[in-house]
Amino acid sequence: MDAQRSDAFVFFGATGDLAYKQIFPALAGLIADDGFDLPIIGVARSGDLESLKERARGSLAAHGFADEAVICALTDRLRYVKGSDDDVETFRALRRELGAAEHPLHYLAIPPVLFGDVVGNLQASGCATGARIIVEKPFGRDLASAMALNETIHKVFDEPAIFRIDHYLGKEPVRNLIYFRFANSFLEPIWNRERIASVQINMPEAFDVADRGAFYDEAGAIRDVVQNHLFQVVSLLAMEPPSGRTPEAIRNEQFKVLDSIRPLTPGDIVRGQYRGYLDVKGVAPDSTIETFAALHLHIDNWRWGGVPFYIRTGKSLPVTATEVLVEMKRPPQSVFGESQPPDANYFRFRLTPDMSISLGARAKKPGEAMVGEAVELYASHESGTERPPYQRLIGDATCGDQSLFSREDWVEAAWRVVDGVLGSATPLCVYEPGTWGPPEAAGVLLHGDRWHDPVAQPGAANKATVLPMQVA
Ligand code: BG6
Repeated sequence: MDAQRSDAFVFFGATGDLAYKQIFPALAGLIADDGFDLPIIGVARSGDLESLKERARGSLAAHGFADEAVICALTDRLRYVKGSDDDVETFRALRRELGAAEHPLHYLAIPPVLFGDVVGNLQASGCATGARIIVEKPFGRDLASAMALNETIHKVFDEPAIFRIDHYLGKEPVRNLIYFRFANSFLEPIWNRERIASVQINMPEAFDVADRGAFYDEAGAIRDVVQNHLFQVVSLLAMEPPSGRTPEAIRNEQFKVLDSIRPLTPGDIVRGQYRGYLDVKGVAPDSTIETFAALHLHIDNWRWGGVPFYIRTGKSLPVTATEVLVEMKRPPQSVFGESQPPDANYFRFRLTPDMSISLGARAKKPGEAMVGEAVELYASHESGTERPPYQRLIGDATCGDQSLFSREDWVEAAWRVVDGVLGSATPLCVYEPGTWGPPEAAGVLLHGDRWHDPVAQPGAANKATVLPMQVA
């Protein structure tokens, strides 16, 4: 890991949505928690320093920052370069504004089509020397464009200086997945095709595309969340133990999972679009972009061969929640003659909006008969104190720590999996808002498996007995 700390923070797209929703709050969090003291330079086409400070104040107010000392620390440090991404003069002005800084961290909070210009101009102006760069997901639109983008950026930046951000990796419950797997000895003997029947990851969102029509219509669910966020969850669930504690040891194993996934074919996936999507501002009237995807991954390695990994996500579904359900195989014999439900034994990891781990089991109902009921051992964590992902990730990037960023080979392997089913390669099924998507989604499941609809509210699922176990 390169230990050189960045000495200036530059963000392109300073007046944009991402800066407002994520970057200003992350910087304020870093100032409050870590005494972050780098110069902060915004680059945008319009406005001036005063209007940028106003926007920063607005963002912080909207995100609950009330401490005037923190707000002032951020706005006092804010500087502004006005100009266009394709004009090298903008970058010369940026170099002057950087002053004595020799290791700037550049955050490209701009559409990927502009990356080429920005990277070239960073180099031409001397702003790339000794620098790092953060780029947003989705990284490319498909395998070919991601490879081209990697090539463009590599002309100027070496891989250790490139930080492909995926905020899911910075989420506390997602980090807990790898922790829980490798900090406990009881899991390893059962965490394989011998004992696990299926794994499913559900990420329903109750909200629609709202004011993001123009962005979303270029992306769709597969590019927006499957190829990145949800594949990261798959790689953490399915990876082998890392060979050491270095970021590369972990990222090697994450990559190997993606590399083992069979490229999707049309029979593995169902795409849906909620009724009304075509009326959203910015959406093409005849758009065939999916707002829903349900799919079945095959991980062709010795640990997971034959175990289906299902993913289901969509906008305008009944609830907003992300959870993983790892279903164990049934006992080989029914000793008590009960017709036990097939999903009696499972691990459930809730990733949003709450963080919890449940173990689903059968226990005997008190009484004379040997009859059981479903119970859950349930451990939850009170949210509220953990670092927001963007704060964690920007802080890591300033220190050159790539552990929670996507490596080039991982990103390309992820595109390789979805490349054959992007666009209109598969039919689009319309679904009603507020439902669990098109009924056709059941078609991607095997051997009588079923989708497990996450509940909206935190807490154990609707089971007969709950044994609460609060995590300190
Ligand atoms: C973003 C997607 O990357 O992740 C959004 O663009 C999605 O469409 C969001 O809603 C989900 O992340 P979180 O952290 O808000 O659950």
